[in-house]
Amino acid sequence: MTTQQLTGRTALVTGASRGFGRGIATALTEAGAAVVGLARDGTRLAEVRQQLGDSFTPVVADAADPVSAGRLIDQYDPEILVLNAGTSPLSRPLHQHTWQSFSRVWEVDVQQAFGWTREALLHPLRPGSVVVEMSSGAALFGSPLSGGYAGAKATIRFIAAYAAAESQRAGLGIRFVSVLPQLTHATELGAVAVAAYAAREGMSVEEFLATRGPALTPEQAGTSIAALIADPEQDQAAYSLTAAGLSPLT
Ligand SMILES: NC(=O)c1ccc[n+]([C@@H]2O[C@H](COP(=O)([O-])OP(=O)(O)OC[C@H]3O[C@@H](n4cnc5c(N)ncnc54)[C@H](OP(=O)(O)O)[C@@H]3O)[C@@H](O)[C@H]2O)c1
Repeated sequence: MTTQQLTGRTALVTGASRGFGRGIATALTEAGAAVVGLARDGTRLAEVRQQLGDSFTPVVADAADPVSAGRLIDQYDPEILVLNAGTSPLSRPLHQHTWQSFSRVWEVDVQQAFGWTREALLHPLRPGSVVVEMSSGAALFGSPLSGGYAGAKATIRFIAAYAAAESQRAGLGIRFVSVLPQLTHATELGAVAVAAYAAREGMSVEEFLATRGPALTPEQAGTSIAALIADPEQDQAAYSLTAAGLSPLT
């Protein structure tokens, strides 16, 4: 991606205070976008603001709140929406979950995807806008220590595909795409999951990581997703994301 390719465009990134979201917000500002970054922890958001400067506007809000979705889309009128915020599931086998812990990712991640996608279609975002919805490689392979996580992330992939069809039917010109990153210990959410899967295998984290390929970093996630946003030719419905970059999923 050439630098400043997104100059003059406003992006709204949920979960921008750390992990993938911070990497995505950084890459988007480097590409010239003005980024509105959402999270619940204002202190962590203030650190991002200090790092990125005036091109980053921190907003403390719950991404699962449908009122915030409507209000913030009306207020900022973004052309780029990255629905990245995600709750960290309790790392336990199925029978050690309660319904509340099993369904937590549905209440946060799926409710976010549903609420913001709905608002993006109703507003509607301007023609040429892009909505990126963060699913997970777990949607393809399952995640037996994460309760309802894999099914929730598969549903987010469906929501993006359904929205793409509605955009096309109504001639809205909004590109909806889901991204399915591989598990990585390089974020807070991923580190908890990696520790649980390592313990399950009777391995140390280092031994577990040695069985896997290079780890995806937030910086790589940011660069790949900013390039996906900037390039309208990358028009597949879903992409897997590893340290090697994006690959279209059929
Ligand atoms: N790391 C992985 O291995 C991996 C793999 C596949 C998919 N993913 C997905 O990638 C996304 C980002 O994950 P990550 O690994 O970067 O996680 P992370 O480091 O734990 O960061 C999560 C971000 O989401 C925010 N967040 C959580 N709940 C929120 C809510 N209700 N409202 C607003 N913001 C909220 C957090 O800030 P606050 O807590 O301050 O709100 C934080 O900024 C998630 O959707 C995750 O499921 C991660």
